[in-house]
Amino acid sequence: MKKLSLLPVAAIVGLLFLQANPKPEADTMLALHPEAPALPADVKAIVQQKCYGCHNANSKNEKGKAKLDWDALEAAKKSKAMASMGKISEALTEGTMPPAKFLENKPEGKLTEAELATLMEWSAGKKKSK
Ligand code: HEC
Repeated sequence: MKKLSLLPVAAIVGLLFLQANPKPEADTMLALHPEAPALPADVKAIVQQKCYGCHNANSKNEKGKAKLDWDALEAAKKSKAMASMGKISEALTEGTMPPAKFLENKPEGKLTEAELATLMEWSAGKKKSK
């Protein structure tokens, strides 16, 4: 029994050691979480409303589906997710998404300035998921 009670102590000492580790945070995060970070809630809400319809595995929009699948992005490894985020950042900067043709019939599908800013910040890697 005495030996077992030492286990939590060892775990705490281990944790303290990890925290004291002077490695840069990004490296540590990548090592501990090689999978993509979950989408921040506000980003997810915008995406679901304004992007997801065309960009998911079951989308009827074949071109949109082929270019970007949010479910795959969320399940992707970090390096792959970062590449997709780069594409998203590009599309947002150029203002090509959602497509202008689509907005002709559905102007309410346009991103508001606040939504655009949130997505831009996230896709540029400046927004940490909580
Ligand atoms: C009405 C359907 C539709 C909506 C809504 C939509 N997209 Fe797209 N998206 C497309 C299509 C179609 C393409 C492929 C365009 C092409 O290949 O010319 C595409 C391509 C893309 C690409 C790939 C660009 C490239 O060149 O690799 C990105 C990134 C993207 N969309 C992001 C978004 C984001 C972010 C949103 C929400 C703000 C969004 N899309 C909303 C249909 C849509």
